[in-house]
Amino acid sequence: MPEGDPAADAPETAAVLARIDRTRLPHHVAAIMDGNGRWAAARGLSRIDGHAAGVESVRDTVKGAARLGLTALTVFAFSSENWSRPRGEVAALMDLVKRYLRLETDNLVANDIRFRPIGRLSGLPPDLEVMLGRTASATRGCRGLTLSVALNYGGRAEIVDAARRIAARAARERKAPDLDETGFGEYLTTRGLPDPDLLIRTSGERRISNFLLFQSAYAEFWTTLTLWPDFRRRHLYEAILAYQRRDRRYGGLG
Ligand code: IPE
Ligand code: IPE
Ligand code: MG
Repeated sequence: MPEGDPAADAPETAAVLARIDRTRLPHHVAAIMDGNGRWAAARGLSRIDGHAAGVESVRDTVKGAARLGLTALTVFAFSSENWSRPRGEVAALMDLVKRYLRLETDNLVANDIRFRPIGRLSGLPPDLEVMLGRTASATRGCRGLTLSVALNYGGRAEIVDAARRIAARAARERKAPDLDETGFGEYLTTRGLPDPDLLIRTSGERRISNFLLFQSAYAEFWTTLTLWPDFRRRHLYEAILAYQRRDRRYGGLG
């Protein structure tokens, strides 16, 4: 990269990147983006300003993930429980997603990033659902990173939806489903994606908050005190370095 290129990594980011073993990357990294409200409060700003600042973190993290060559990145943007927030905050979050799609779709295509929304999309505002579908279609042929954005997503709801669809199919075909755990995964909105190897949560919270419950069975959990609006690709790289030092056992003796 030429000197002075604004896309070049800062020296401290490049130093972390250089330590990552590219032959042992996690296939799928998932992130619970948390702390936007606290970031804003600490600056005397509104929670909505915090969410707006968080969009920059998404952009940088996605670029960093693509540059590293990750297969899949999934971010939790709006949970099925987040509807309980004030109406204005919910509307602002939906607007920010729309703005992201308007501004980023061409960039996603240019960077070979496949966009995939997950969650109960039919429960979102209809114009947002249409825009999500358009960006997914526009990037369908992309073969680099798969970026999944979880919206109106709840892990329990996803499992229940899968069970309902399996039951409906069994009734239609008049036979009990022949399913194992892999087969069940095909009924989840993440079908086709590998399970997350690494699950990041920002802002110091250490809970799963109904995210990817089925898929995260053996994910390595990494938390940071960094609030989401301060999160950059360097933090993603630090999480991956920590992941590469973990001893994954899957119930065996390693
Ligand atoms: C994460 O930040 C964004 C969403 C959950 C939509 P929060 O809005 O949860 O921020 P805190 O946890 O209140 O700081
Ligand atoms: C989880 O964050 C949901 C998203 C990041 C979209 P929350 O801030 O909603 O989770 P809790 O309420 O702290 O568990
Ligand atoms: Mg929160």
